Amino acid sequence: MKEVTLDIPVTADAAIVWHDDRLYLLDQRLLPNREVFIECTDAGSTAEAIRAMVVRGAPAIGITAAYGVAMAARERFAASPDGWRAALTQDLQLLADARPTAVNLFWAIARMRELVDAADSGDPSPRLRAEARAIHARDRDDNRRMGDYGAALIDGPTAVITHCNTGGLATGGWGTALGVIRSAHAQGRVSEVFADETRPWLQGARLTAWELVRDHIPVRLMADGAAAARMARGGIGWVIVGSDRIAANGDVANKIGTYGLAVAARHHGVRFMVAAPTSTIDPDTADGGAIPIEERPEHEVLQCAGQRTAAQGTGAWNPVFDVTPAELVDAIVTERGVIERPNAARVAAHLSGE
Ligand code: MRU
Repeated sequence: MKEVTLDIPVTADAAIVWHDDRLYLLDQRLLPNREVFIECTDAGSTAEAIRAMVVRGAPAIGITAAYGVAMAARERFAASPDGWRAALTQDLQLLADARPTAVNLFWAIARMRELVDAADSGDPSPRLRAEARAIHARDRDDNRRMGDYGAALIDGPTAVITHCNTGGLATGGWGTALGVIRSAHAQGRVSEVFADETRPWLQGARLTAWELVRDHIPVRLMADGAAAARMARGGIGWVIVGSDRIAANGDVANKIGTYGLAVAARHHGVRFMVAAPTSTIDPDTADGGAIPIEERPEHEVLQCAGQRTAAQGTGAWNPVFDVTPAELVDAIVTERGVIERPNAARVAAHLSGE
C-alpha cells in the first residue's frame, strides 16, 4: 500500500476519493495525528486496505470494494479481453474475504457481480465504475434521509451516547448513527455527545471525536466501562449506534461493546436506536446467532498504540463485534423510515415497502 499526499482538503466526507480511475483512502489508522491517503490500484491493494483497517465501517467497506471491482475489471480486461471474467471472479472473492461481518461488503460485491454476469464482449469497466460511483453517492444521500428520520425520534435537547465511529469516515458521507446525531444537533435536539473510546482500535477517541470537534458538536470521551454509570446519572435520552449486519429478526451486530450498552440502556430506561441503511439488513441471516463475528489478532488487545500494556504471558480474546438481541432495540432507522421495536415481521415489512 502506497502513501500519497492529495491536494484536497481532508474531511470525513471525503475519506474515499475516486480520482483519475484510482482509489485513494484516508488512512484511518493514523487519525487524528496524521492525515495521509493510501493509493489502491487493484483488487489486491483494495482488499488489503479493508483487512488492515485503512478504511473501516460497514458502508465504507462496501463502497471501497465496489471501486476495487471496477479497478480489477479494467486491469483484467486489458490483460485478456477474452478471459477477463474468470480472473475477475478471483478478485471478487479476494475482496469478499477481506472482512467477514459487515454485510454491506457482500451487498456491494453482489451488485457488482450482477453487472459482471450481464456484461457482453466489450470492456466492462466503464459500467462498473459508474456503478461504484452510484453506490457511493446513494450512501451519502441515504445517510441524510436516515439523519432526518432518526432526529425526529429525539425529544430534545438531550445528551446521547454513541459507540465506535459511524460518521463520514465510516460511510460515503454524513454517517449513520453519527449522521442522526449531526441532524439532531442541527435541529437543537442533541445537546452533547458522550463517545465511548471503543477499545481496542479507539474508533471513538480517534475518529468520532475528530469528526465531532470539527463540526463544533460538544463531545466528551468516556472509557467504555463508564457508559452504564453515565446513564445512571441521568440526562441521556438515547444511545445511538450503527450496525455491520442486521439479521432478518432484527438482531444487530455492531462493534464489540454495543450489546453491553443496550443492556445498560434498558436497565436505565434509556432508549436504544440503531441507524443503518437497508444494505446493512441481511434477510438471508435468520438471527444474530448466524452472523459471522470477526475475531482479530490478540496483540490488538494486549497493546495500546503499539506499546504492550498487558502482563507478559497473558492471552487475549478479541471478537470485534457482538450481537444485540432485537428485543433490546427500540428503533432501527434506515433511509426508508423507522422500524419500531423490530422483529422478523416488521423487518420483512420494512424491506418490502409495506
Ligand atoms: O471494525 P470497524 O471499525 O469497521 O467497526 C465499525 C462499526 O462497528 C460501526 O459501528 C458499523 O460499521 C456501522 S458504521 C456506519
